[in-house]
Amino acid sequence: MATQTQTQTHTITTTIATSSDDDESLCCEMNPPLSLTSLSSPTVSPSRCLSTDIDSHVERAWAHWRKLGQPKLIVAPMVDNSDLPFRMLCRKYGAEAAYTPMLHSRIFSENEKYRSQEFTTCQEDRPLFVQFCANDPDILLEAARRVESYCDYVDINLGLVPWIGSLVGFLAFDRDELSVQLAMSFHLGGLALAKTPGYVIRKTVVYGCIHEPSGNQTCCPQRIARRGNYGAFLMDNLPLVKSLVQKLAQNLQVPVSCKIRVFPDLQDTINYARMLEDAGCSLLAVHGRKREEKDQKKIRANWEAIRAVRNAVRIPVLANGNIRHLDDVQSCLEATGADGVLSAESLLENPALFAGFWTAEWVVDGEEIGEDGKLDQAELLVEYLKLCEQYPVPWRMIRAHVHKMLGEWFRIQPQVREELNGQSRLTFEFLYGLVNRLRELGVRIPLYVKHMDDGRMPSSGSIA
Ligand SMILES: Cc1cc2nc3c(=O)[nH]c(=O)nc-3n(C[C@H](O)[C@H](O)[C@H](O)COP(=O)(O)O)c2cc1C
Repeated sequence: MATQTQTQTHTITTTIATSSDDDESLCCEMNPPLSLTSLSSPTVSPSRCLSTDIDSHVERAWAHWRKLGQPKLIVAPMVDNSDLPFRMLCRKYGAEAAYTPMLHSRIFSENEKYRSQEFTTCQEDRPLFVQFCANDPDILLEAARRVESYCDYVDINLGLVPWIGSLVGFLAFDRDELSVQLAMSFHLGGLALAKTPGYVIRKTVVYGCIHEPSGNQTCCPQRIARRGNYGAFLMDNLPLVKSLVQKLAQNLQVPVSCKIRVFPDLQDTINYARMLEDAGCSLLAVHGRKREEKDQKKIRANWEAIRAVRNAVRIPVLANGNIRHLDDVQSCLEATGADGVLSAESLLENPALFAGFWTAEWVVDGEEIGEDGKLDQAELLVEYLKLCEQYPVPWRMIRAHVHKMLGEWFRIQPQVREELNGQSRLTFEFLYGLVNRLRELGVRIPLYVKHMDDGRMPSSGSIA
């Protein structure tokens, strides 16, 4: 990873907007903000899919993928969680590519404040997928054109489901005591959770809503989902999906990728994947769960369906679902034949997953599976905080990562979590102090490494 002095964060604009809510404000000043035009544009492979020649489309798709080094270990898109500092942390620990959080194409096209806060990147943040949700090809293209020079794929989210926000609420704030700020704009899901016995909401901050320039919160994903026009709801409108993909494939210089969920019927999934490939999609990430399958941890992803897609299309395919540690990566690649994997939830807890570090949860008692890897989540959190000082993000994202990385530690010393929840205005000093408090209280949960056959410890996430 590049040193601090060598690295500069850039945003779409030089304007840094602030919000009245403490968690909405950036954790520090942009450093120094640059406009996109002041950075050298990376070279991108022309991906124009002007002809109907599927052979040359597939050839170009592979040439591009090979040029990127065929990354296998990839940070999945996560609203409010796959932020630039988090991506950079994961890259340091073995991730070979990363997705941005999903961006809303229309708001991205229209709203400078949204662009400047929600899309940040830097020269080391490559290969990079920039993901959009969309329901209008022209608007999607307009948004995509703004980022195409700074990424390796423009990705279309065809798997967004409305409940994901309540899941974010879960992730960001501890299950045992949801003294919550409801994450994202998915407050309806969060409120449903609040009605669940045992959960108490002391403070509700609805944030992450996509604010119209007028200040109205008219585009929160719940409403979008209800209209049935975005994400996984596009599975009911395949002609629209096709037009979104074609529009980008025919007009962008950078290739278009798609992230999909599977249909209940395997043949429908296969037809869907083939349609996307024919429309000009150059890479397909398949989340092996159905639209209705909400509990990602309880419901196993369907790797057989991913394998069927892999066999049905000729472009690179990525598998998503059930990647909890490095052994899962190997098993998934073997089971699906996919060209790489995405991991989401497990990476939030353990950003060093791709470097071969395991959380204690997966270390089976008595099997001598691992030893203390001399790295723990508090150290990873400190690294993340330092990256946030370098690449500013809103405090709400930092707060979510603190809860995820230190969730198990807080279970041992819940009063430290209380301190965090009681702090409406975060500072780096407070957060570094929080880590020190946990250490002083004697909390330490190591990350483990598996014994290698030759006695080495894994230090990178390379997969054969
Ligand atoms: C906090 C969070 C935010 C997410 N946001 C997005 C998103 O912006 N775009 C998307 O396509 N999927 C999103 N997802 C879904 C993940 O990318 C992934 O498909 C899903 O979590 C399954 O992967 P996993 O089993 O490794 O968690 C999100 C998941 C989580 C946990």
